[in-house]
Amino acid sequence: MAPVFLGILLPVALGLVMKSRSDNKKRGVLVEAGGEPGITMRNQRFLKLLETPWEGANTLADLFEQACKMHATQKFLGTRELLKKELEPTSDGRTFEKVTLGRYVWLSYGEAFEQACYFASGIVALGHQKGERCAIFSETRADWIIALQGCFRHNFSVVTVYASLGEEALVHSLNETEVTTVICDQKQMKKVLDLGTKLETVKRVVYMSELGGSQDPSNEHIPDSWTVESFEEVINLGRKSPVEPELPTAESVAVIMYTSGSTGLPKGVVMTHGNMVATVAGVSKLVPELGPKDVYLAYLPLAHVLELAAESVICASGGAIGYGSPLTLTDTSSKIKKGSKGDAAELSPTLMAAVPAILDRVRDGVRKMVDAKGGLSKTIFELAYRRRLAAIEGSWLGAWGPEKILWDTLVFKRIRAVLGGRVRGMLSGGAPLSGDTQRFMNICMGMPIGQGYGLTETCAGASFSEWDDLTVGRVGPPVPHCYLKLINWEEGGYRITDSPMPRGEIVIGGPSVTLGYFKNQAKTDEVYKIFSTIQYIQVDETGMRWFYTGDIGQFHSDGCLEIIDRKKDIVKLQHGEYVSLGKVEAVLIVSPYVDNIMVHADPFHSYVIAILVASQPALEGFARSKDIQFESFEDLCEKEEAIKEVLQSLQKVAKSARLEKFEVPAKIKLLSEPWTPESGLVTAALKLKRENLRKNFSDELKKLYL
Ligand SMILES: *[C@@H]1O[C@H](CO)[C@@H](O)[C@H](O)[C@H]1NC(C)=O
Ligand SMILES: *[C@@H]1O[C@H](CO)[C@@H](O)[C@H](O)[C@H]1NC(C)=O
Ligand SMILES: *[C@@H]1O[C@H](CO)[C@@H](O)[C@H](O)[C@H]1NC(C)=O
Repeated sequence: MAPVFLGILLPVALGLVMKSRSDNKKRGVLVEAGGEPGITMRNQRFLKLLETPWEGANTLADLFEQACKMHATQKFLGTRELLKKELEPTSDGRTFEKVTLGRYVWLSYGEAFEQACYFASGIVALGHQKGERCAIFSETRADWIIALQGCFRHNFSVVTVYASLGEEALVHSLNETEVTTVICDQKQMKKVLDLGTKLETVKRVVYMSELGGSQDPSNEHIPDSWTVESFEEVINLGRKSPVEPELPTAESVAVIMYTSGSTGLPKGVVMTHGNMVATVAGVSKLVPELGPKDVYLAYLPLAHVLELAAESVICASGGAIGYGSPLTLTDTSSKIKKGSKGDAAELSPTLMAAVPAILDRVRDGVRKMVDAKGGLSKTIFELAYRRRLAAIEGSWLGAWGPEKILWDTLVFKRIRAVLGGRVRGMLSGGAPLSGDTQRFMNICMGMPIGQGYGLTETCAGASFSEWDDLTVGRVGPPVPHCYLKLINWEEGGYRITDSPMPRGEIVIGGPSVTLGYFKNQAKTDEVYKIFSTIQYIQVDETGMRWFYTGDIGQFHSDGCLEIIDRKKDIVKLQHGEYVSLGKVEAVLIVSPYVDNIMVHADPFHSYVIAILVASQPALEGFARSKDIQFESFEDLCEKEEAIKEVLQSLQKVAKSARLEKFEVPAKIKLLSEPWTPESGLVTAALKLKRENLRKNFSDELKKLYL
């Protein structure tokens, strides 16, 4: 009797203890800080801000060299062999490229270091001068990192540009930074060559050959003054004529990263080596048991600080990085030849990074797979999912107990195979992750998701949720290399004295806060406020740099941050009420008729309006049920009855979310065409690009306010 009794009681008791312990666990604690008054939090585990991953690693060049020596024979950079490339016709008469990829071929840390040294000497041999800048403009691949580290060995700063930015932005970025050497892949080289002499400062182009593809670019219109050389040739040059390195210091500029601004031309964020190694130091401490056994699947753009930081962290820990691409990630990815393996299945990574849009896609893919199977297997999946969800949202013990093993073996193991079956943690950043998707990944993929919050200006992560934190919707405590501060924003009505939680604008301080915007002192002064200036660098009286994010957050009692609003998206109406556009949109998108929505407000009017992409199935369903005749969906979107129905639905969801009357759109316009990243109306992470939307639909908005 006794053992059985204990057998039941013990787990229950333990579960309760564990639950209360994990609920009350302090993750961030208050700290005194300089600069503007506010409420400041640091990571609970680290009394002092971390600046370097280990002593002596003061720059990314140090870090790389020392890691390569420590792990010389370990696998480092892996690239898949291209076995076959073919064009397949699609149903609408176009063709689509499909590839069959083979195994990963690896460069060891030692070999990668050797290549970086050769590359460094090679571009010097090619004529690149001290003090000049290089640009890297390419998809994510092993050569990217080798070129980057090659540049660093001679203290050349590297300019990066998002591939999705247009031509004008590219010309602007390269011209502003006076880049003389452009390192690019063959796809991007076409763009660079087409621009030709518009790129006034460029003298050299180094191209990375298409994997397994043709070697020579067709090069009718290369400007006479340019030298164009292949990556391999530069390495050969360097091998023949080695040059002594001139290594950077912590204060040297490592990367000038151009990111899209919401208006106008992109801005170049100036990152020092010190900024980057501080990020590596902090993030390395957040991934439990990070080390040489880890395998990371790299496929996000390296021109994005999230990916650059993640790969630098793996390098510092001696792990392996296998390269892939969003189009070849899984067996069912669009570019993978049917029946052959996607990157994840071939690599079996232990760690990955993702943006929420990609995780949403994985979730939808799995749901579709389950629905397609139907029948008993769908029923079992749903039962398993419900059981696991209840367990995770219940006690800590329930989350990891024996029932987990049962469902994992029975149901989820096959789903995990989609990502190779070994992923033990996922890092998500770039945009907020929905609670639903987070749970889905926790359960189906059986892994914790570290949700990060940070900006290019703060060199990626400023806060990061811990792996044993099973809550959703929060972005964790400050990372070990940053302070997070909230300050009052009176106009918006957010104060650090608010109850139940302090709220305010998020200000980030610490060694990863970058120097500012390249050749844009006015903008720099605006968001990196000046307290005192040491050698042109803005710091507070304690020597710390602060970046004003414009995001509004609140601190939970355990020290974790939650993002609740954006300063820019708050508009004052004619009668003085403030409307938070993002908040209202998040409420209204719940209406079944809404696929996407932008709320618009204007200080000259007392009410808000909205344009929205209507959900075709929902709206057509309504029309059929009411016998409304329509010729096309576009036509339906114009119908009085349809607009009225959607407006009523918006009012209903607004009411149940207790929005104020002035927050609910008084007039709306229904659109039949979705907003896509390609049209420039939303970002790759599917966040609204308000400026573009306002410009694009200015006529509609004007009409609504008539
Ligand atoms: C490039 O920059 C120079 C000044 O640095 C400017 O005069 C020129 O107009 C710029 N060219 C382009 C194409 O932006
Ligand atoms: C490295 O380059 C920076 C410019 O980013 C320059 O100010 C610095 O003096 C250089 N450092 C060394 C050690 O050459
Ligand atoms: C607005 O966007 C749509 C599609 O995204 C495009 O067809 C249209 O030309 C754009 N209109 C303007 C005024 O930019």
